[in-house]
Amino acid sequence: MSADPLEIHLDERDLARSLREDVRAGLTANPKWLPPKWFYDARGSELFEEITRLPEYYPTRAERAALVRHAARIAEVTEAKTLIELGSGSSEKTRLLLDALSDQGTLGTFAPLDVSVSALRQSTATLAADYPRLRVRGIVGDFTRHLDRLPTGGRRLVAFLGGTIGNLLPDERAAFLGAMRAALETGDWLLLGTDLVKDPAIIVPAYDDAAGVTAEFDRNVLRVVNRELGADFVPEKFRHVAHWDAEREWIEMRLRAQRPMRVRVLDLTVDFAEGEDLRTEVSAKFRPDGVAAELAAAGFTAEEFWTDPDGLFGLTLARAC
Ligand code: SAH
Ligand code: TRP
Repeated sequence: MSADPLEIHLDERDLARSLREDVRAGLTANPKWLPPKWFYDARGSELFEEITRLPEYYPTRAERAALVRHAARIAEVTEAKTLIELGSGSSEKTRLLLDALSDQGTLGTFAPLDVSVSALRQSTATLAADYPRLRVRGIVGDFTRHLDRLPTGGRRLVAFLGGTIGNLLPDERAAFLGAMRAALETGDWLLLGTDLVKDPAIIVPAYDDAAGVTAEFDRNVLRVVNRELGADFVPEKFRHVAHWDAEREWIEMRLRAQRPMRVRVLDLTVDFAEGEDLRTEVSAKFRPDGVAAELAAAGFTAEEFWTDPDGLFGLTLARAC
């Protein structure tokens, strides 16, 4: 079967408007910042897929290993009829859940949601071909804004993988989990993938690889702003920096100006001093107790917690209570 046409909750105009708002807020702030969702145009989504294959980037392999071990259990416990995936990207690892849930016979619908139209087009086409008995409903949307638009009815399992929840700041995370709970019925399930706190000597290279793919990915956000808003950033003049913040237990991605620069964007003139940083993303690392506490505060019970064999990455299966 072919996939349903994409459901669009975020069209070009919404995207352009929210990019303008974010650029205005972030580039006039001190320190300067840009939010991470703008990394993922077609090129950005491809670069991210390349990151997932890098030797230094352990989260994807570790999360896959955890799913290999526990997907059957997840299917057995949840008996999900509808699987929704937030920030789905290529949905590669999600196949482990689709297989387990299909084997068990309960699954009817898979609904991946992403801001990246290009990633969704590809993933929904290949998944619909590979899972002919499944209804595949791709949703173009923003998981910080459109959780009230998720498919309803039947037992639902929402998967939020890749550690992407760590890309939200703590207050955004609480707001996200609250909105997630409000969108679900009591008894629905949430499967949350979180990267775990560990030696920064393992974490930092995952965000600053030797081949420079992550640096290219980071700079891609400047190319998006140049193309979409006619800005004149010179991306090559920004150096990618991955900084481990030991107190907050997150890694912070920054683009550091290599010389003084003046950038024009919208009606703004934005000056960078030599060595000035633009923060592009944080990726928080979690402790199992912390994840359970944040879930509880939002109205979820963490029922099971698993990791990969090396204990690098966590999977929490939580229920809306
Ligand atoms: N789940 C995949 C991809 C993770 S990368 C994996 O585990 O490998 C993060 C994904 O989230 C990208 O596909 C990106 O386009 C998407 N994304 C980022 N911010 C988003 C937002 N606010 N709303 C919806 N999708 C978002
Ligand atoms: N969700 C991914 C993570 O936090 C996103 C990511 C990986 C990322 N590498 C990155 C984002 C580099 C910005 C820059 O691991």
